[in-house]
Amino acid sequence: MRAIPVFLVVAGLTTAGVAMGASSSAPTFDRDVLPILEKNCQSCHRPGEIAPMSLLSYTDARPWAKAIKNAVATRKMPPWFADPNYGHFANDRRLSQADIDTLVGWVDGGAVEGEAKDKPAPATFQDGWQIKPDMVIEMPTPFLIPATGTINYQYIRVKGSFPEDVWVSAAEMRPSNPAVLHHGKVWVVPPGSKWMADATPGMPYEGRETGRNDAADGNDILGKFNPGLGAQSFDIGGSAKFVPKGSDLVFELHYTAIGKETSDQSKLGLVLAKHAPVTRYFLSSGPTASNLLIPAGDSNAEVVSEVTVGLDDAKLVYVQPHMHLRGKDFELRAIYPTGESETLFKGVFDFNWQLGYDFAKPIPLPKGTRLIAISHFDNSANNKFNPDPTKDVRWGPQNWDEMSNAFVGLIFSANDDAAKLFKRSGPSLLPAGRPGPTLASLTGH
Ligand code: HEC
Repeated sequence: MRAIPVFLVVAGLTTAGVAMGASSSAPTFDRDVLPILEKNCQSCHRPGEIAPMSLLSYTDARPWAKAIKNAVATRKMPPWFADPNYGHFANDRRLSQADIDTLVGWVDGGAVEGEAKDKPAPATFQDGWQIKPDMVIEMPTPFLIPATGTINYQYIRVKGSFPEDVWVSAAEMRPSNPAVLHHGKVWVVPPGSKWMADATPGMPYEGRETGRNDAADGNDILGKFNPGLGAQSFDIGGSAKFVPKGSDLVFELHYTAIGKETSDQSKLGLVLAKHAPVTRYFLSSGPTASNLLIPAGDSNAEVVSEVTVGLDDAKLVYVQPHMHLRGKDFELRAIYPTGESETLFKGVFDFNWQLGYDFAKPIPLPKGTRLIAISHFDNSANNKFNPDPTKDVRWGPQNWDEMSNAFVGLIFSANDDAAKLFKRSGPSLLPAGRPGPTLASLTGH
């Protein structure tokens, strides 16, 4: 899903960087640092957003100077986990080396404020919708969030209002309380889908993570909320998402407690395409390792899963790896019908950030291409997030179970049948709890 940038560029705003040659004076906050924070940090680091502190002003940022230096020098911030050696991404958040040098230079030079006349205009953030929705669908009642404790994923089925088939060219999911919604998704549940079929509309359910994205069920994700993500466009050369008439929606919500009791009532805004497009944008769960078995204590268990492309003209536009608390890293590799192989994405996995990556250019996946996911898990006692290093772990919906799959966004002919997009193949044909074969035997190396 292509993110529509949250940050509105203010006229005349440029990243000054260190004034080369002009003077050797250390970077100042007003002249050099603030433009970088506006462009790269404030979407999350401002009041009411997900980050723990604001970086809007010198007063806000100064106490965090050392932490900022450390966070940017180690590339912990902004959050971004793709290995730069593979793939190019339209939503790449990484700072340039020049920006890192400026921030580090500012801290090393005493974190001075500088002169107010050098300040860029404040960044303006659009409050309210970033799209002009033709249709808005809201959770019928607010969900109550306790002050403390872990909150499992919540699934709430909401009656759709789709008397006709529609095509959606952009979507935006908006929590009423962004401070508590860690991330969220809104799924399309077409008539006849088995997922959440028994759910009473408006009621929150837990443990419904499986079965959401069986191709035959046609469940697709319409809207997503991630801190700093903003609205999403499905228009890649004219493509749009398909919602069959009579569909319902399921809101999937990952809330975090913030120390006081509060509530959230999220909604989804949709921009409808004026007419049926030539290409369809579809999100699939891609290679899925429902057979996985991760041995107790193993600090680097490798899990391999596979699908084979069944359509003629599919192109990959998006990848979002999904694992749970033992997940370490994730790679997506294509083995083309010619036998050539290519790593399309490789990255560290961090459960707290369910990030997605938009390919800068759609990647053609000819029919017969095998998409292989290779993931590693740390099921040892050294993993501080590991719920229990003494247990063998199998596929399952709860955080103490594991998953290895990736939501993959594809565009293909609007006349094609999404159910034919992928066939499970290789190790993904094995029954639950039966691991193997290994990557080496799959790729012949
Ligand atoms: C997508 C949202 C997002 C963006 C963009 C972002 N941050 Fe953060 N930042 C967070 C969140 C959430 C936390 C707290 C959780 C954590 O530390 O991972 C955080 C934590 C931090 C911390 C504390 C780290 C620590 O070690 O405790 C610093 C410092 C920081 N951010 C600086 C920055 C700077 C500087 C930028 C821009 C160059 C930036 N962040 C961009 C969301 C963001």
